[in-house]
Amino acid sequence: MTDTATIEIDNKKYEFPIVKGTENEVAIDISKLRASTGGVITLDSGYKNTGSCESAITFLDGEKGVLRYRGYSIEELAEKADFLEVAYLLIFGELPTKEQNDKFHDDIKAESAVDEDIKKILDAFPKAAHPMGVISSLTSALTAFNPSSVNVDSEEDMYKSVVRILGKMPVLVAWTMRKKQGQPLDYGDNSLGYVENLLKMMFSRPNSCYVQNPVLVDALDKLLILHADHEQNCSTSTVRITGSSHAGLFASLSAGISALWGPLHGGANQAVLEMLEAIQEDGGDTKKYMAKAKDKSDPFRLMGFGHRVYKNFDPRAKIIKKAADQVLHDLGVEDPILEIAKGLEKEALEDQYFVDRKLYPNVDFYSGIIYRAMGIPIEMFTVMFAIGRLPGWIAQWREMRLRKEPIGRPRQLYIGETSRDFIPINKR
Ligand code: CMC
Repeated sequence: MTDTATIEIDNKKYEFPIVKGTENEVAIDISKLRASTGGVITLDSGYKNTGSCESAITFLDGEKGVLRYRGYSIEELAEKADFLEVAYLLIFGELPTKEQNDKFHDDIKAESAVDEDIKKILDAFPKAAHPMGVISSLTSALTAFNPSSVNVDSEEDMYKSVVRILGKMPVLVAWTMRKKQGQPLDYGDNSLGYVENLLKMMFSRPNSCYVQNPVLVDALDKLLILHADHEQNCSTSTVRITGSSHAGLFASLSAGISALWGPLHGGANQAVLEMLEAIQEDGGDTKKYMAKAKDKSDPFRLMGFGHRVYKNFDPRAKIIKKAADQVLHDLGVEDPILEIAKGLEKEALEDQYFVDRKLYPNVDFYSGIIYRAMGIPIEMFTVMFAIGRLPGWIAQWREMRLRKEPIGRPRQLYIGETSRDFIPINKR
């Protein structure tokens, strides 16, 4: 392959460097395009062809169904590592030694209390508030309680903010769920592992001793690992672009949580379960819903199917499908919803419409079934995704700051009115 790409405009040729990533991905570096051509820009709605940054965190090959964090395969990490090890790997670039891992966990535990005044903010939300809105607000509010986490130029300051948010997020999540359920808040137990403590804070009851179920701990740990990063998706790009203005980490994460909320992104896990329940209530006729999904005059889409970058099986979905079977088996749950999900998957994989468009089940298709078996309310599903994605957002934000990336500011092609004279209101 040549080293440059040529663009010809009005019989004038412009050359741009071709750059290659470590996995041989190829990009045309057009950073000088506008300056050298006197104002020409590229137009790429939805950024389907645009690389917004160089990144050394996550590699994915959507054609082959490959996903690696810092070079390690998602399959191996899900089987052999725990969530905090993966968080450390994503954020700092290497798997931690035993000492580094213990220190990281101790530092997170030391930050696992939130200011009591956070409760007042929580109290002010109506019970019907969607937990994603509450979590986004509380994450943003953390800045007010920890003002030193805004100006974080040194690695040391960044580290403090990182362990702070990793320590406090499980509390915010658990409290948001308990508040909605009318349960008293639980302050957790720092003698427990990160995931065990999260489960305790979510599910303990004031009148009984919470007993950990290793099957649930293992399943949740896996789910969090599988969600931990996914390179430049909608919420991650939001975190990077918000942080590029030098907004603090918590404000950037709050923006990312809002982006994740949408049903085309993280909100899909809630939408999948709602769809499966609706199909069940409607008599379980999967063929009817397959037909709706293919009907262009019907806005219905098969939630949990398709992905912007995976044009093959989502490798995370393969692992989650197995975990869902395992969890339901170990818990002795017989969920008719799982049968509907399996039926839909089988039909979609054999259907020409889905085959032609390379629409496969994505990570959200099966995660909701596990969350449901664990007793997590549907509205909390996307919040669980957010806890999982937290290390990825942090890693991407930190990378962006350390690389001293410029403020994100895309261009546009203006298609509005050209210059016109103002008409006074009495003459309009
Ligand atoms: N059901 C039916 N048709 C679909 C679906 C679907 N779930 N997804 C895509 N299509 C069709 C779409 O109508 C279009 O058809 P045509 O070429 O005839 O116009 C074609 O497939 C390409 O779709 P697109 O919308 O151009 O693809 P995209 O890359 O812009 O969108 C997506 C990707 C994930 C937003 C989309 O597949 C979708 O809406 N899926 C359902 C929501 C979902 O499960 N989202 C979770 C994504 S995974 C979690 C995460 O990482 O956030």
